[in-house]
Amino acid sequence: MSQKQPLWYKNAVFYQVNVRAFFDSNQDGHGDLPGLTQKLDYIQNLGIDCLWIMPFYPSPLKDDGYDISDFYNIEAKYGTLDQFRTLIQAAHKRGIRIIIDMIMNHTSDQHDWFQQARADRNSPYRDFYVWSDTKDKYKEARIIFLDTEESNWSWDDLAQQYYWHRFYASQPDLNYDNPKVRETMLDVMRFWLKLGIDGFRADAIPYLFEREGTNCENLPETHAYLKEIRSMIDHEYPNCILLAEANQWPQKVREYFGDGDEFHMGFHFPVMPRIFMSLKKGDRTSLQWIVDQTPPIPENCQWCIFLRNHDELTLEMVTEGDRQWMWQEYAPDPRMKINLGIRRRLAPLLDNDPVKIRLINALLFSLPGAPIIYYGDEIGMGDNILLFDRNGVRTPMQWDQSLNAGFSQTTPEKLYAPIITQAPFDPEHVNVTDQLKNPDSLLNFTQRLVKIRKQNSTFGSGNLEWCNIADLAILAFKRNYHNETIVVINNLSDGVKEVRLKEPGLSGIPTDLISLQSRPDFKNGNIQLVLDPYQFIWLKYEKLDD
Ligand code: GLC
Repeated sequence: MSQKQPLWYKNAVFYQVNVRAFFDSNQDGHGDLPGLTQKLDYIQNLGIDCLWIMPFYPSPLKDDGYDISDFYNIEAKYGTLDQFRTLIQAAHKRGIRIIIDMIMNHTSDQHDWFQQARADRNSPYRDFYVWSDTKDKYKEARIIFLDTEESNWSWDDLAQQYYWHRFYASQPDLNYDNPKVRETMLDVMRFWLKLGIDGFRADAIPYLFEREGTNCENLPETHAYLKEIRSMIDHEYPNCILLAEANQWPQKVREYFGDGDEFHMGFHFPVMPRIFMSLKKGDRTSLQWIVDQTPPIPENCQWCIFLRNHDELTLEMVTEGDRQWMWQEYAPDPRMKINLGIRRRLAPLLDNDPVKIRLINALLFSLPGAPIIYYGDEIGMGDNILLFDRNGVRTPMQWDQSLNAGFSQTTPEKLYAPIITQAPFDPEHVNVTDQLKNPDSLLNFTQRLVKIRKQNSTFGSGNLEWCNIADLAILAFKRNYHNETIVVINNLSDGVKEVRLKEPGLSGIPTDLISLQSRPDFKNGNIQLVLDPYQFIWLKYEKLDD
């Protein structure tokens, strides 16, 4: 990809894709790399700048591939390294970059390193993992997979010791105090960078090191090592990026940007539940609060914002009271709950209401940060709460109304997961082909948002300034960049709202970015309008002379 755009990620739109779920090219019931390659035209047509591809490494798939058994290969069900090379070339030809999941914190217990480590105390791999004779160490570290795990220590009969794991017991943590581990993981990254990828979504990074008397998260040692990775990338693969998965408060995530010398990007976890909260309450307070809590970040860094992903809608970053409220409002059936979150997709969470779905996407595309779309949410796919763990939000992509929603030609019993069959989310109602034909579809709306966003770098690079409106149901802000201001006004409520806004700093006649009509009635920042329930408007003012 072009070496001339070092800050390409600041204005990029990302798309998160699960190879297993996208398109099955060889009729074995699993999506695969050639299948994803075949569907690149679709992704290009949507306007995507960068794909985040979820783990495709060899894996027993006890955590859907986040349990890696070989860092240097591709899971046979998904394809081969050659097919991955082809995918990268085909994506780059279309101007689409690719970042891949890198799971540094742990391996699968099936990984050869762990097998050797547990079998022999003198193996050089013994010290690749964290062992103890008792379960007494690191007591202050929380348990993340609360529904399944009772402790971060598990006993291994063969090893005759306990091993440390922050996630499933089948995912032993690597020991980053061992320089060999640190070196090996740098080499793993080099291996994939050399194949031509554009960076990594670095999984679970707060937990790399453990220290007694701490909660074993965000430790200085962790930051020091992450800076080493960044330095390797800057020297050897400039233009490639690191995206941090650190489910933490903004002040803590801020540390992962360093002085612009650690991560290029970081997910903004706490903003996500508050978007849902504000929308359900018809009250901007919590969303506005978290945006105000978000510290500035270095010029060469960017937040990544999202509405949903492959995990539960996490409620780790809200108060206990808000968590209970979110569960009550968004997870009325107990099966929708998992750990500290909600395992549902975007469209069902919003009662499949097109007006709310459009508004929430408009928020995603106008708030500070680069947006990520989770595969299938651009067509409003549903979920299946009967499936185990978080699998209900990872069902096959619905391409058309044919057999298996056009995802695979195999018999339905062979699919890795069943297609959603219940109306209104079944392929008859939700599929790509029909939505491409319908100018009013969610897919076409999303495509339009992507296009507008990319034509207006103010969304990616501008600051945010709140507009002064008393009615808490209205969330209004300005995004300012150079001589341009985009005024964004959202009605978060189910009532019709009259909005009056005087922004004397703005001059000229704005353009409505969605309809592309000029609005002489809003000249010089005098805005007076009536918004329908959940309606929004984006008005662009350009200063002609300074
Ligand atoms: C990350 C992934 C999640 C996985 C966990 C353990 O949080 O998003 O899917 O289960 O790491 O690897």
